[in-house]
Amino acid sequence: MVKDNRGRALTDLRLSLTDRCNLRCTYCMPREIFGSSHVFLKKNQWLKFSELDELVEAFVQLGVRKVRLTGGEPLLRPGIDNFIQRLREIHKIDDIALTTNGVRLRKHAKSLKNAGLERITISLDALDPEIAGEMNGLGISPKATLAGIEAALDLGFTIKVNMVVEKGVNESQILPMAHYFKDRGVILRFIEFMDVGNHNNWSIKRVVSGNEILDRIMSEFDVVPIDLSSNKEVAKRYRYLDGSCEFGLITSVTQTFCGSCTRARVSADGKLFTCLFSNNGLDLKTFLRSKECDKSKLLNLLSKHWTKRDDRYSELRSEIVNIEEKVEMSYIGG
Ligand code: GTP
Ligand code: 5AD
Ligand code: SF4
Ligand code: SF4
Repeated sequence: MVKDNRGRALTDLRLSLTDRCNLRCTYCMPREIFGSSHVFLKKNQWLKFSELDELVEAFVQLGVRKVRLTGGEPLLRPGIDNFIQRLREIHKIDDIALTTNGVRLRKHAKSLKNAGLERITISLDALDPEIAGEMNGLGISPKATLAGIEAALDLGFTIKVNMVVEKGVNESQILPMAHYFKDRGVILRFIEFMDVGNHNNWSIKRVVSGNEILDRIMSEFDVVPIDLSSNKEVAKRYRYLDGSCEFGLITSVTQTFCGSCTRARVSADGKLFTCLFSNNGLDLKTFLRSKECDKSKLLNLLSKHWTKRDDRYSELRSEIVNIEEKVEMSYIGG
């Protein structure tokens, strides 16, 4: 197991399979910036699956036990099913998760299941079609995503839904979303709007804090916190007292969790990031394609990079005045 400067082990790997997306969420890929003139990675810039296999093998040797496939929108990447199957059967990853906006999930759910995937996290910010359409930037109603969720539930997937809450935009959806997903046994996580990337016009005034969200939930439901003493997750978990289900709060802005951050992120073109707010990544693709690359050198490179890591952006947020250009979340994944 490899640990960084602050004793944080590398246990969790997030692989972005493409930087493309079929939505343009205002907080992630605002349409004005990610429009027709935006240059996405070309398909031949993506890491090949054989290269992803090499990386996963090395990360597993260093202690990774959990792999999340993300994007952009990972269901836009052909070959994802076979890769999931290899993660399970060859790399022996027991905890594989997928982050998707769910628009194409209905079509893909069965083949994902057959590949051995067991859990899926879906991004959805509102049930109201107008609010959802405004937040996804393209006026798309949540109908397809909800149908995807139903299809996945029917197939027995464990489902979480991630809802980014933005002041004055979708606060009105907190209770309707809580009711809807509680009734279906789906774990809803409310996420504080973050200053990721460079284009979402973030300001603290646009953040609804986890405490405010909890107050709203408690105005309607009886809930208890789940014991978090051994918790390594980013979400603070709560249970509805009627025993139906749980929900979570992800307080990345108001109550940070850098002290237990165990995540490495690799972009679709093979750059390694050890923080969501980094401004540069380590170019693994060039190394993988170089003559000098072999298994032990790869292990050495990854482990050295993790060991010297000192990331704690969220803890420092209020002190940072001039940050260099940050990486985009659609490029390294949520
Ligand atoms: P599980 O594997 O189901 O436990 O997922 P998770 O709880 O780790 O959450 P998920 O991967 O769905 O991430 C949910 C959201 O939390 C992301 O979209 C981000 O908004 C936020 N988040 C996740 N990881 C980090 C992190 O390392 N740093 C910060 N600042 N935010 C994070
Ligand atoms: N703030 C918080 N979460 C974000 N995501 C993307 N942009 C932001 C942001 N600005 C997360 C959401 C989404 C996932 C793909 O990325 O959780 O569900
Ligand atoms: Fe696409 Fe997800 Fe970003 Fe929305 S949050 S634009 S669905 S990558
Ligand atoms: Fe990890 Fe960076 Fe998020 Fe802190 S801000 S939890 S170091 S990814």
